[in-house]
Amino acid sequence: MNLRSSALLLPIAFLAGCPAWDPMQRQPKYKAYQSSEFYADGLAMRDPPSGTVPYGSVGDPAVQTGAGEDGKPLARAPLPLTPRLLATGRKKFDIHCAACHGLVGDGQSQVALNMSLRRPPSLHLYRDVPDGYIFLVISRGFGLMPSYAAELTPEERWGVVGYVRALQLSQHAGAAQVPPGTMQKLQGDAR
Ligand code: HEC
Repeated sequence: MNLRSSALLLPIAFLAGCPAWDPMQRQPKYKAYQSSEFYADGLAMRDPPSGTVPYGSVGDPAVQTGAGEDGKPLARAPLPLTPRLLATGRKKFDIHCAACHGLVGDGQSQVALNMSLRRPPSLHLYRDVPDGYIFLVISRGFGLMPSYAAELTPEERWGVVGYVRALQLSQHAGAAQVPPGTMQKLQGDAR
């Protein structure tokens, strides 16, 4: 290839890579809420076919929604709290919740210090709410707190609920709840 032909090819290569000329990008399409003469109702946006369910909503409704058949938040998590689920909950709490509610859930965090309008509360104040309530707050958000439904699957949310319970217990356990072996060790350490 001589110098002249490569000089000719250069602008062509440039144009081919330019999005404004890309027919895939500039094809006719409808945007949200636009009207359409194609459909009888004049709308471009269509209802999903009947029977369509949202992604992630298949499975035990209690696990998916955190509510019982009466629509009230479940008192207890509908999943067995295995060590594995709790470990997942801890990991997800540290990633998604601790930034605002603090690593031990006491509301002490750098973000909290800088939120003047409404601070993330200490989660130790929520010992008496049902498990399903905490699940709902994570799923839907609450006031200034965003929803974490996109970041956490329902199972992961139950893991976080379990870990919040573990954090609460860690700050409020009485001597009677400490396993005997651990109690001896604690007493030994205290001496
Ligand atoms: C961006 C900061 C932020 C993050 C991250 C965050 N929260 Fe919150 N959270 C808040 C704020 C702020 C409130 C108080 C909202 C209000 O009252 O308007 C709140 C409130 C709550 C409440 C109390 C709701 C009530 O009834 O008063 C719970 C429980 C809670 N958060 C749990 C969580 C859990 C679990 C996570 C992690 C999945 C999480 N939060 C992540 C900021 C956050």
